[in-house]
Amino acid sequence: MLDLGCGEGYCARNYLKMGAAAVHGVDISAEMINLAQANTPDPRASFERASIAEFAAQQDAHAGRYDVVTAVFVSNYLDSRELATLVTLAHACLKAGGQFVLLHPHPHLPYHRQSASAGLRFEVDEGASYFDSIGDSHVGRIVDLEGKTIEVRLVHHTLEELFGNVIGAGLRIDRFRELRLDKPTADGWPALADVSLQTPLHIMISSTRD
Ligand SMILES: C[S@@+](CC[C@H](N)C(=O)[O-])C[C@H]1O[C@@H](n2cnc3c(N)ncnc32)[C@H](O)[C@@H]1O
Repeated sequence: MLDLGCGEGYCARNYLKMGAAAVHGVDISAEMINLAQANTPDPRASFERASIAEFAAQQDAHAGRYDVVTAVFVSNYLDSRELATLVTLAHACLKAGGQFVLLHPHPHLPYHRQSASAGLRFEVDEGASYFDSIGDSHVGRIVDLEGKTIEVRLVHHTLEELFGNVIGAGLRIDRFRELRLDKPTADGWPALADVSLQTPLHIMISSTRD
């Protein structure tokens, strides 16, 4: 598996627990890569510091090597050109029949009237609208399970842009989900207790390289 924008290795560790034979994680941040290496002492895991663009520049070395490529909450840090690079890179790295899974904050979340919450908030300029804000960077804050506030960024990409990139790269979409909090998760996450179970939080686009 290849995990693009792997952060401190949380997903990689879970993929290994779920039975992945090997995971290679890539992230722009040296600090995250150091953490990932320290937190994942497993010979099946490897990590590399590279931006999406840098990794794409050496994609020939990775072409057709992976069964699964994931990009979990990294596309929300990328501008439109980098987003296109990410998806083209995922396609190039997959074997025939391989799967690309993209997780992205729900593009409607910052504009959703029920999204304002003490524990989850995006700052959106007054008057900004869903279709006029492509590429705008919204700063957000989320309070994690331990009560720590994390600053996050949401570069706005519409659903049309996200789907357009996946289809344009030649990937076949086989599953799409709009994810929201469920009751047990909300109950165990005090900072998000005021987030409506009706608020669209994330999207997942799963696609296959035929
Ligand atoms: C919100 S974190 C998600 C980390 C991990 N995927 C997870 O779900 O736990 C976003 C990660 O994307 C990385 N990132 C941001 N821009 C990047 C880029 N241009 N190339 C590679 N990684 C990038 C950041 O360093 C950060 O670790």
